[in-house]
Amino acid sequence: MPLSTELVTLNGFINQQERKFPGAHGTLSGLLRSVGLAAKIVNRELNKAGLVDILGDHGATNVQGETVKKMDVFANEHFIAAFKRGRRCCGIVSEEDEDMILTDEHGAQYLICMDPLDGSSNIDVNVGVGTIFSIFKRLHNDHPVSKEDFLQKGSCQVAAGYVIYGTSTMLIYTAGNGVNGFTLDPTIGEFCLSHPDMQMPKNGNIVSVNMGYIQTFPDAVKNYVNACTVLDKSQKKPYSIRYIGSMVADLHRTMLKGGIFMYPSSTDAPNGKLRLLYECNPLSFIVEQAGGKATNGKIRIMEMQPESLHQRTPIYIGSADMVDELMEHFNASI
Ligand code: AHG
Ligand code: MN
Ligand code: MN
Repeated sequence: MPLSTELVTLNGFINQQERKFPGAHGTLSGLLRSVGLAAKIVNRELNKAGLVDILGDHGATNVQGETVKKMDVFANEHFIAAFKRGRRCCGIVSEEDEDMILTDEHGAQYLICMDPLDGSSNIDVNVGVGTIFSIFKRLHNDHPVSKEDFLQKGSCQVAAGYVIYGTSTMLIYTAGNGVNGFTLDPTIGEFCLSHPDMQMPKNGNIVSVNMGYIQTFPDAVKNYVNACTVLDKSQKKPYSIRYIGSMVADLHRTMLKGGIFMYPSSTDAPNGKLRLLYECNPLSFIVEQAGGKATNGKIRIMEMQPESLHQRTPIYIGSADMVDELMEHFNASI
């Protein structure tokens, strides 16, 4: 592919943004560069995932005599290492670690919450997976970082984003000033601006939910799914049901094509499955910045007060009109 002289790399874009907001002192930019670097390392390793039978199974020993790590452990280690090397973050909460991780950067201001590898059960079948990250500022510079620093509402996020490792690898992020998407060009090893100022469709005709659990969902969700699947050509119904089972991949399609992604509460799991701090908050920030909505069925996801690091929440997220229509069903069922 001929390289355009207009090409804007992730690092170039971050520099441009810094010049636009001269008050920004580059710390956040450094964190985003760390995300880009770790994403490239994870991408490289994921590309080899299909070769595990040749190079050695997970847990087995590879040709270099090293133990082959599970990909979510590998991704966790490389994202943590990249953030530590960047020296701009004082604490990390990861899906893979029970406790928060404190770095030695006592003067650093930023905290990270992350799902280093989302949809990991899909790796073995060569389906898209992702990384999700959320960035906050610590509450007090003069106190040691504590759990309270991480238990801030999603509305306090300063930046958030995801990487999707799919047919191509993309990094999408917001710093509260719109959403921009970058596609990895493997020939030059750079994320290049491919989706500037992303806005998601206000409406859509794709519903993304694990229909296997439909009997266990709240009546509002059952009624909404019924309303989406009636035979009514005048409303272009029935809508499609599409569920990949990797939240990042389902959400990415929802961002581009419109639709709604739902992981509801159920009779077995009243708080659903997905995690507030490092799955729901960051993706809600992205979706809201792109013109969509995200709710737990009662309030905005980003208005929820977190109580624990690995807290779960039901989530309904996507095109504004579809989330509004679902909410009408919730409000009618009160
Ligand atoms: P993770 O791989 O980080 O544990 O996340 C898996 C999540 C999410 O990506 C996906 O939407 C959901 O689990 C699928 O769960 P079900 O199989 O219960 O539908
Ligand atoms: Mn996940
Ligand atoms: Mn995960």
